[in-house]
Amino acid sequence: MQKPKYHVFVCSSSRINGQQKGYCYSKESVDVVQRFIEEIEGRELTDEVMITNTGCFGICNLGPIVVVYPEGVWYKEVTVDDVEEIVESHFENGEKVTRLEIV
Ligand code: FES
Repeated sequence: MQKPKYHVFVCSSSRINGQQKGYCYSKESVDVVQRFIEEIEGRELTDEVMITNTGCFGICNLGPIVVVYPEGVWYKEVTVDDVEEIVESHFENGEKVTRLEIV
């Protein structure tokens, strides 16, 4: 596998003991992860964009949190309905979705 252009971390409230329990999980972040995977595969971006689910980023009240590298952009309150816009705008066109960005 080659190094991806974008590495996307989606908080699913994963814990070290394998449990998923927490704020982002309660806000359907697992569905957000799944939607990202479907969108990336559907647009044939799997060589460029890697999706990883993670544990807590420590700002649960703004969750679900999505962090994008290499820019280090943090998105807040991401829903399933926001995923298509992030993929198209950020990963395909290189433009951050400012309405969701934590600044
Ligand atoms: S559980 Fe997602 S940021 Fe804390």
